Amino acid sequence: MQLVVMALCYPSLMASIFTVFFLLSISFTCGGAQPQQKQCRNISLGSSLYPPTSWTSPSGQFALGFYRQGSGFMVGIWLVGIDNITVVWTANRDDPPVTSNGTTLNLTKSGKLLLTTDEQGKEKIISDTMSESASYASMFDSGNFVLYNKNHSIIWETFSYPTDTILGGQILSTGFQLLSSLSETNHSTGRYRLKMQIDGNLVLYPVNTLDIASESYWASGTDGYRNGIGLKYRLYLNHSGSLEIIQSTSMDIVQDLGLSSKSNNTIYRATLDVNGFFRLYSHTFDKTGKLQSSDIEWSALEDKELCKVNGFCGFNSFCTLNDNKPYCVCLPGTDLVDVNNPSLGCERNFSKVGCSSSKVHVESYNITTTENMMWIDIPYTHESMSTKEECGKSCLEDCNCEAALFNTDSNCQRHKLPLKYVRRDPSQDTVALFKVSIRSWNETVPIPVKPPVHVFTSKKVMVQILVLILAFTAFSCLGLGVSGLYMFKIRVLRYKRLKESETLGLTKGLTLNLYSYDELERATNGFKDELEVDKSTFENMVKVGLWCIQDEPVLRPSMKSVVLMLEGIIDICTPPCPTNTSI
Ligand SMILES: *[C@@H]1O[C@H](CO)[C@@H](O)[C@H](O)[C@H]1NC(C)=O
Ligand SMILES: *[C@@H]1O[C@H](CO)[C@@H](O)[C@H](O)[C@H]1NC(C)=O
Ligand SMILES: *[C@@H]1O[C@H](CO)[C@@H](O)[C@H](O)[C@H]1NC(C)=O
Ligand SMILES: *[C@@H]1O[C@H](CO)[C@@H](O)[C@H](O)[C@H]1NC(C)=O
Ligand SMILES: *[C@@H]1O[C@H](CO)[C@@H](O)[C@H](O)[C@H]1NC(C)=O
Ligand SMILES: *[C@@H]1O[C@H](CO)[C@@H](O)[C@H](O)[C@H]1NC(C)=O
Ligand SMILES: *[C@@H]1O[C@H](CO)[C@@H](O)[C@H](O)[C@H]1NC(C)=O
Ligand SMILES: *[C@@H]1O[C@H](CO)[C@@H](O)[C@H](O)[C@H]1NC(C)=O
Ligand SMILES: *[C@@H]1O[C@H](CO)[C@@H](O)[C@H](O)[C@H]1NC(C)=O
Ligand SMILES: *[C@@H]1O[C@H](CO)[C@@H](O)[C@H](O)[C@H]1NC(C)=O
Ligand SMILES: *[C@@H]1O[C@H](CO)[C@@H](O)[C@H](O)[C@H]1NC(C)=O
Repeated sequence: MQLVVMALCYPSLMASIFTVFFLLSISFTCGGAQPQQKQCRNISLGSSLYPPTSWTSPSGQFALGFYRQGSGFMVGIWLVGIDNITVVWTANRDDPPVTSNGTTLNLTKSGKLLLTTDEQGKEKIISDTMSESASYASMFDSGNFVLYNKNHSIIWETFSYPTDTILGGQILSTGFQLLSSLSETNHSTGRYRLKMQIDGNLVLYPVNTLDIASESYWASGTDGYRNGIGLKYRLYLNHSGSLEIIQSTSMDIVQDLGLSSKSNNTIYRATLDVNGFFRLYSHTFDKTGKLQSSDIEWSALEDKELCKVNGFCGFNSFCTLNDNKPYCVCLPGTDLVDVNNPSLGCERNFSKVGCSSSKVHVESYNITTTENMMWIDIPYTHESMSTKEECGKSCLEDCNCEAALFNTDSNCQRHKLPLKYVRRDPSQDTVALFKVSIRSWNETVPIPVKPPVHVFTSKKVMVQILVLILAFTAFSCLGLGVSGLYMFKIRVLRYKRLKESETLGLTKGLTLNLYSYDELERATNGFKDELEVDKSTFENMVKVGLWCIQDEPVLRPSMKSVVLMLEGIIDICTPPCPTNTSI
């Protein structure tokens, strides 16, 4: 114990002594742990931590405690760095961060690892899967934090619950997976997973997918079936930086993934990164225990394969590299759902003409072609056709068709949106055909073919739409002679507003959802007041307006209903949301 205390206080002085000491007495182990875990620091019952303190391992290279996330703290284990830390494990990673007020992490007298946040008076047991009480805990130089019972047997260890990283000596067991972090600064569950499947294959997938080949973007190819059914494999990172798939029982190496040959004072970690890459890193420390360098030793995918990561781009978009940086590009006829978050994918930027009139349908659309495209969705029709023109024509004439894929086998596959994992791959000899609208805004006035635009960013467009909605309420639904008062006001307002559009108090780049009436009212900044109507009448007018410009004539209310709706005699359902119908 004295040695440990000395080591903690004078790490540089003691480092060499310790090394010699442990090399000589290999039999010395800490508690019941593996000899390879080497030095540890014992933590007795009744010890506690509060933000931002931690329990460090004897080498000072790893610490367990509170690390900063956003304006609060998370409980985790990290590799101590020079300027920043590398988090390797987080407790309850999807819980909100805790504040420093009255928060403690206790190894209680009753033998539990307990997080108490005074603010909410909440308690959370971190070692919640433990069946018996701990007698003491140890923080190892390997980065493992272990709880022992009276008999010095391990009853709980962080190595059994990896988040996005395994360290030297750690195993990812059969059937378990690593889940990436959301970002470098937010370690809650992110977008990718690495699964050690029971069939022996180690596979990368986006989260929330099935364990099927079409969802995967990398696999080790070590399916047990090849070598005989029933063999369970594990992923193991050994202490000298060899990342390998091993057999559970014999520990035989099935496949070496990454090898490294660094000096002794190196820590290895295999991490499923934020961007979906699975990589082996080395962190080399100098003699004084200071982090000297960090390197990538191995990666499941190469840098230039960034676009192979499934789910990097959302629906209806594909990834392309520009200057080695990946970008998401929308398919023809679609726009980003959220310009600030390209990974959310794209949606069609025009509304569909109903299937009732095939002539109108064909005249409204054209086909845009793109080569070397692929996606994984199952088509609703496979047909044999000799040319891509023929394939395009069949899609154009089919009001259900939104995209088609023509391949060299003279196979024409028709699809509906959304399309998933769209890829541009020069090795694919395919032609993708996308249905796009040929109508422009000008031609559609006064009857907009566009649905009530869900998201738009320019002031002018919004004013136009407001005017249209209101004008429509009067002109198109009510018709002349009905409710002349509204008509008069709207006409006046229309001209006035168009002229004054620049002075409207709309923020630039405002994103407005027409279905959020409060937001609409706020954004129109007094428009409602000028109409001299109350909130509910204004809402009703907007709703009726939206009903009146439904593309589907069947959906448009009758003139009689409109009058009743506006007078508040009958209830108005919320109009179909275009975001749903256009996806
Ligand atoms: C930690 O505690 C265990 C059990 O009491 C003991 O065997 C071991 O020597 C201690 N290790 C250190 C480094 O103090
Ligand atoms: C981390 O991301 C989650 C999920 O988006 C979010 O709820 C949480 O507030 C984020 N935490 C911080 C500190 O930004
Ligand atoms: C901080 O951490 C990030 C992510 O691990 C790394 O890319 C960056 O180089 C680190 N910065 C410094 C100064 O070490
Ligand atoms: C923390 O406590 C201080 C002093 O009691 C108080 O001023 C502050 O608002 C508290 N912060 C939070 C986030 O509760
Ligand atoms: C946790 O530790 C702190 C400081 O030692 C102590 O005040 C508090 O009562 C402890 N809480 C529990 C639940 O043991
Ligand atoms: C500890 O070991 C003793 C004797 O080997 C055994 O009787 C006892 O059940 C063990 N206790 C625990 C908690 O494992
Ligand atoms: C790790 O694995 C490599 C390759 O199998 C082997 O050469 C090395 O001795 C192993 N290291 C340890 C510490 O087991
Ligand atoms: C690593 O340790 C071994 C003894 O285990 C020693 O012989 C060797 O010189 C060391 N290598 C380096 C680069 O320090
Ligand atoms: C829809 O997107 C295409 C590009 O994919 C663009 O050329 C077209 O102008 C957009 N149409 C509308 C109405 O925004
Ligand atoms: C349809 O697309 C083709 C090829 O891109 C083009 O030549 C043609 O002019 C387009 N037709 C219309 C009506 O826009
Ligand atoms: C649409 O109208 C604008 C201005 O009114 C005009 O400049 C533009 O050429 C028109 N576009 C089409 C396709 O008619």
